Amino acid sequence: MLQIDSLSKTYRTGDKALTDISLSVPKGQIVGLIGPSGAGKSTLIRCINRLVEPTEGRILLGDSDLARLGKRPLRRQRRRIGMIFQEYALVERLTVMENVLSGRLGYVPFWRSCLRRFEPHDVRRAYALLDRVGLLQHADKRADALSGGQRQRVGIARALAQEPELLLVDEPTASLDPKTSRQIMRLLTEICAERKLPAIVNIHDVPLACQFVQRVVGLSAGKVVFDGDPSTLDETALSTIYGADDWHAMQQESRDDDEAESALRLVGVGT
Ligand SMILES: Nc1ncnc2c1ncn2[C@@H]1O[C@H](COP(=O)(O)OP(=O)(O)OP(=O)(O)O)[C@@H](O)[C@H]1O
Ligand SMILES: [Mg+2]
Repeated sequence: MLQIDSLSKTYRTGDKALTDISLSVPKGQIVGLIGPSGAGKSTLIRCINRLVEPTEGRILLGDSDLARLGKRPLRRQRRRIGMIFQEYALVERLTVMENVLSGRLGYVPFWRSCLRRFEPHDVRRAYALLDRVGLLQHADKRADALSGGQRQRVGIARALAQEPELLLVDEPTASLDPKTSRQIMRLLTEICAERKLPAIVNIHDVPLACQFVQRVVGLSAGKVVFDGDPSTLDETALSTIYGADDWHAMQQESRDDDEAESALRLVGVGT
């Protein structure tokens, strides 16, 4: 369970990116974090694992307050948090398997990691994870030889190799086509349910979020302005999050995208 209490962040530049955010995410729940550009979605995710230092507030994961930890304990606690990024952040010249094993680095002594020697049970677990994300047959391929969807699957397997207690996901599908995006969201939601992992997924695509997450949190100018079931995310709520004009513009864009997707389907390409 993750519990955030009164979290605020003001950057040195004076930008107040988050104001008094309180949020708790129980085990197994996946929260879709939505909001316009600059709303503070990435800042929130980064404050939780302290890539960005919170200005005020508490971030409780189990018993420890992540916001207060010193360097060493922070490093230990970070192992408990799996991160998945839009740009995958894979090591291109390493194999799929090596990338997944790198998720174990926080647990392996430094000299072993230099020699890239991993325990047999780590290797067995990595194979099992690759099987789970559907990449077993690609284990020995170099990361740079994979498609975007496959790369994101490696990113997911690597995060899981850490045996995390929380997943933080920053725009996992932003570089992917619609069909692959749905596959990745489905995989993420299934995995969170199977492993009883709480997760926060920062996502731009509102319909995609609503299709897969159990709860939506809407941020606007650094504040939570919506928190509820996706089915209650109506026109009024969306206008509050995005501003009425922007929301109507987004609807039009999404209609255009749908038309483009249908056109591709008609000619037998894509979804
Ligand atoms: N390193 C930084 N220094 C100063 N201000 C920052 C920094 N990072 C973000 N900000 C500011 O904090 C606010 C929130 O930014 P953030 O990146 O969290 O938004 P976001 O919701 O993730 O946006 P996007 O959807 O475009 O990724 C913005 O006003 C941004 O300009
Ligand atoms: Mg962002």
